[in-house]
Order: sequence, then C-alpha cells, then structure tokens
Amino acid sequence: MTDNVLVTDDAGVRLITIARPEKKNALTQAMYAAIIEALIQGDADPLVRVFVITAQGSIFTSGNDLADFAVAGARMEGAPSPAERFPFVITETKKPIIAAVNGVAVGVGVTMLLQCDIAYAADTATFRTPFVDLALVPEGASSLLMPAALGRARANTLLLLGEAWTAEQAFEAGLLAGVLPADELEESVIARARVLATKAPGAVRATKALIGADNSIVIDRIRRANGVFAERIASPEFAEAAAAFMTRRPADFSDFS
Ligand code: COA
Repeated sequence: MTDNVLVTDDAGVRLITIARPEKKNALTQAMYAAIIEALIQGDADPLVRVFVITAQGSIFTSGNDLADFAVAGARMEGAPSPAERFPFVITETKKPIIAAVNGVAVGVGVTMLLQCDIAYAADTATFRTPFVDLALVPEGASSLLMPAALGRARANTLLLLGEAWTAEQAFEAGLLAGVLPADELEESVIARARVLATKAPGAVRATKALIGADNSIVIDRIRRANGVFAERIASPEFAEAAAAFMTRRPADFSDFS
C-alpha cells in the first residue's frame, strides 16, 4: 500500500490523485499498483461511472521514479511489474478516463494521455518524453499511438529529440481537448466528469469501445515495448543515465557504441 495515491468517489466520479509532490509526483511501482487497483476496482463498481486522474501541487508527474527503477529493474522476478501492467490496464479499462494535467508532465505523464479518453491541461503544464535521453525507449503503446495521434514528424520531436512542449503546443497537436487556467482546472474537469457520469453508462462504455483503437494491435505493442524497456533498464547505457540524474550531471554516452 502507498499513501502517495489518493482515491475518492463522489457523484459517480472516481478521482485518482497522484500525491508525492516532494518527489515531483514520480511514480514508484507501489504507486502504479495503487492506480491499477483503483481502475480495476472502479471498473467493476456500478457506482463509479468516470475516472479522473490528476495530481497534487504544481506538477502532474515527473514520470517513472528513476531511483526505484534503477534498484528494482523493470520486471519483478519474471512477473510483470505494476509499471509494466499499467498500460495493459489503462487499455482495458471500460469506463472513461479523463486526465487533468495540473503542471509538468514527463514520460508516462504524457504517454498515459494517449490512452485517456479526454485530457485537459493547465496553461502552466509542459510535456516531455525524454526516454531516449535516459537510454530508454517509449513505454507502453506510445510508439504506436503517439505518431498515430500527432503525426510522425511531431511525435518524433517528443520521442526522439525529447523536446518540451507547452500546453498550447500539445493542444494544437491534438494531445489535449483543452487548456484551462491552472486554478480552475480540477474543478472544471470534475464538473465535466460529473456530466458524463449522469449519461447512460452502457452507451458511454459502448461508445468508448467503438472509438478505441484496435486493442489487439495496442496490446501487442505494449508487450513488445515492455520487453525492450526491460532490456534497456538493465543496460549500461541506462546505468549511466540514472547515475547522471542522481548526481545532477549531464549523461555521457561518448564511450558507448
Ligand atoms: N525519479 C526519481 N526522483 C525524482 C524524479 C524521478 N523521475 N523526478 C524528480 N525526482 C526527485 C529529485 O531527485 C529530487 O529529489 P531530492 O529532493 O531528494 O533531491 C526531487 O524529486 C525534486 O526534484 P528536482 O529535480 O530538484 O525538481 P525541479 O523542480 O528542479 O525539476 C523536473 C523537476 C521534473 C524537471 C526534474 O525533477 C526532472 O527532470 N525529473 C526527471 C524526469 C525524468 O526524466 N523522468 C523519467 C521519465 S521515464
């Protein structure tokens, strides 16, 4: 169990709040496990109609906890870790998920938006997927869904170059449904979620299922990406990237071929 993910239900809306602001809301395996449990349990609970995912403070998430990953690896004793299960679970969740990106979104903070049904962001939010900078690869199905959603050229400025986008850029590119003033974001997104929660639940689930991409292709890509990601986490290149992050120096890949 972890105190770093808060789950509250109100008026059909399950609010999942990432709550580890002192570590910039970096996601540990325990936090992934808590989010997975909230989604699976909520999907089975008739009183829950819609999920909202947001975070405490002025940052959405700085992505995978690099210290946790460096120690635990991507995989636990051969079984999929919670971080590996998360993209499968978000793909298979039948009820709508709305993201309220309250600030900086790094890594999974961006890639999960490709699998949320609607995403809004604060005007202060920024978006970055520095997987290659960390000697990693895009996680989950993001190598499939991001080029499909944003176009290959724009996706590669995030996935290969690791550039940071503003909320306005992310909106223009089609990653977001809207950009809202930071102090209005949560209230405004919850109000929309409450409206959705009053609609016919069967129709909402059926519409989500029809709109969704072909799940078998998505599931296949997640499987492949999990395999490559686990290899990358075990690589000397990632060891250099993680050591550089922890000691606040630039990574040096000049000795790698
Ligand atoms: N994993 C582990 N710890 C993290 C983290 C992460 N992804 N992101 C932040 N932290 C920790 C820092 O190590 C620091 O811990 P400390 O106070 O014990 O030294 C604390 O959170 C505050 O982070 P800091 O970097 O000082 O905050 P900042 O406001 O200067 O910068 C970010 C915020 C998000 C820009 C910066 O923390 C960052 O780039 N994080 C890494 C993002 C990343 O590469 N994620 C992985 C994607 S796969």
